[in-house]
Amino acid sequence: MDAAMPDKDVDSTVFLVNREHKISEDYIPEVRKTNVYGMSQSMRSDAAAALEEMFKAAKDESKISLATVSGYRSYSKQSTIYSRKKKTLGSVDKADALVALPGASEHQLGMAMDVAQRGSSQLNSGFGKTKGGKWVSENAHRFGFIVRYPLGQEEITGYAYEPWHVRYLGKEYAKAIYQAGVPMEVFISAHRLEIYEFLIHAVEDEVLP
Ligand code: DAL
Ligand code: ZN
Repeated sequence: MDAAMPDKDVDSTVFLVNREHKISEDYIPEVRKTNVYGMSQSMRSDAAAALEEMFKAAKDESKISLATVSGYRSYSKQSTIYSRKKKTLGSVDKADALVALPGASEHQLGMAMDVAQRGSSQLNSGFGKTKGGKWVSENAHRFGFIVRYPLGQEEITGYAYEPWHVRYLGKEYAKAIYQAGVPMEVFISAHRLEIYEFLIHAVEDEVLP
């Protein structure tokens, strides 16, 4: 793992986007359509290839059929979604817990995908309890993804539990974050302080007899 993590480079797979770290309205990544079942959606090609590998493994290993719901979203698309959510819920706070403000969404990076089980395009916390949701949570890291907004980490990520939202980081970092069991925000800070190995080993020590 690189000692100097390129988390400040917007094109890097470990670029952190959240309420505090926004991207410009002009940021438009190069994306391509994902070649999997579901709504016609796009991602950066490295992320799309990893997603295709993950969907195939879910099917081959566990007979789980996943489906894409929402991938790359432009700044203006995110703006429309946010405004609609605010209107439907009638509250800025409620909308803020569910949808990122334009410029603050990983979907604009082209490295996030919302996934569901085939036959259901519903994105709700119930997905986490389904066979598909459990498989994604336990296996996404093998393909370079993390479930970015886990249960119990809402205070740090700033968003409600989203078992359906996976973020691509590449296999090395996804596995490290999965093993550490911490949100991306904590991992990045720890990495900057070069204590990520401590985090990972602390978790390993806990589970080993
Ligand atoms: N739902 C996530 C936070 C987004 O809008 O990017
Ligand atoms: Zn999402």
